[in-house]
Amino acid sequence: MDFYSGTVSGLLLLLLLSLVIVHGEIPTTLDGPFKPVTVPLDQSFRGHAIDLPDTDPRVQRTVKGYEPEQISVSLSSTHHSVWISWITGEFQIGDNIKPLNPEMVASFVHYGRLRFPLTHQATGQSLIYNQLYPFEGLQNYTSGIIHHVRLTGLQPNTLYYYQCGDPSIPAMIGDASYANLYLTNGTGSDCYSCSFSQTPIHETYQPRWDYWGRFMQPLVSKIPIVVVEGNHEIEEQAGNLTFAAYSSRFAFPSEESGSSSTFYYSFHAGGIHFIMLGGYIAYNKSADQYKWLERDLAKVDRKVTPWLIATWHPPWYSSYKAHYREAECMRVAMEELLYNYGVDVVFNGHVHAYERSNRVYNYTLDPCGPVYITVGDGGNREKMAIMHADEPDNCPEPSTTPDSYMGGFCAYNFTSGPAAGKFCWDRQPDYSAYRESSFGHGILEVKN
Ligand SMILES: [Fe+2]
Repeated sequence: MDFYSGTVSGLLLLLLLSLVIVHGEIPTTLDGPFKPVTVPLDQSFRGHAIDLPDTDPRVQRTVKGYEPEQISVSLSSTHHSVWISWITGEFQIGDNIKPLNPEMVASFVHYGRLRFPLTHQATGQSLIYNQLYPFEGLQNYTSGIIHHVRLTGLQPNTLYYYQCGDPSIPAMIGDASYANLYLTNGTGSDCYSCSFSQTPIHETYQPRWDYWGRFMQPLVSKIPIVVVEGNHEIEEQAGNLTFAAYSSRFAFPSEESGSSSTFYYSFHAGGIHFIMLGGYIAYNKSADQYKWLERDLAKVDRKVTPWLIATWHPPWYSSYKAHYREAECMRVAMEELLYNYGVDVVFNGHVHAYERSNRVYNYTLDPCGPVYITVGDGGNREKMAIMHADEPDNCPEPSTTPDSYMGGFCAYNFTSGPAAGKFCWDRQPDYSAYRESSFGHGILEVKN
């Protein structure tokens, strides 16, 4: 039978910030100082991360026919449920692709607290997505069949066994990924715009997503993941479609959290209420995202979830030169709302380095403001962020700082504090508590 068997425990959490994570600092408690415990990498490793080649066994397809692969577990909005996702059938890439019929393979998960028998069953939905480029010579892509099934009625702190697949089909029937650093023919580059400045559209190589799913399966089929979109997931294609891979490949607790979008949603994990926000869709007060955020924050019961953590991709408080003050319009629109509801910690990615802020609000140290932690140093071929905006000759020209995907210009000179009248500080800003350029990851440990 075409089954994958796995286990999942209800209280583990892995946050993928745009499929990019993170850093080597382990907080002991959320209240006290975060103590760095990792040893910085040898300086010679700086900026030399590369993608695994197509020939690496960890990214190659090892299943046959319609056996499940790229299996992952995603958190739902509460600890009573999780999503199981997987892919069946091979993707196709080239000039003459024929999308698979997603109804040809059913979406079943059997699960239970004992390995045998698996007493519970859940069914879900299946879909495919296409990445199409209406330009001569570019190769189109159609995915395998993507399955998402929600398991419900789970008990916390309990190990569950599960099998996913279609029992009626016998075997043998025939930013995260940074897929957007590649042309559709599979040629990659450390800097897309430098190497491929003449392409008619920003191409991607969608098989990199399948490689990512295979490489990550040993981890994400056991530990629930949650993803939030980054700029590398935009992936424009024909018809001005964007985010097709991101929105299709992952399961999101959107509906469960009252959101109609894969770009913003919320969930509980232990004593934390997590809010995931989108930096590349509308965030102003009149936007659906902002209205949803107001409703979601108003519902938070701090007796049930005393900790309130928010996450989105481009950081508001980063002192690196790369992406400096790039997300100012989002900060201006949303910071007050998050502050008023007492958000404790904010996690961001995007900047390929680590930085932790002091508690801050509107660029002023404030004991009621959140701690901002940028953990964008999970590794990527674009190299690490090393330069700081406060170093000599590193302060960017303000007009160059907005991200065109985020819209608007909101970054003006500071009006108060030691940097008043200037666009950059002349030393590490007082809101910046610690910064380090190295590859790594982060673990957030929340004690009761
Ligand atoms: Fe990014």
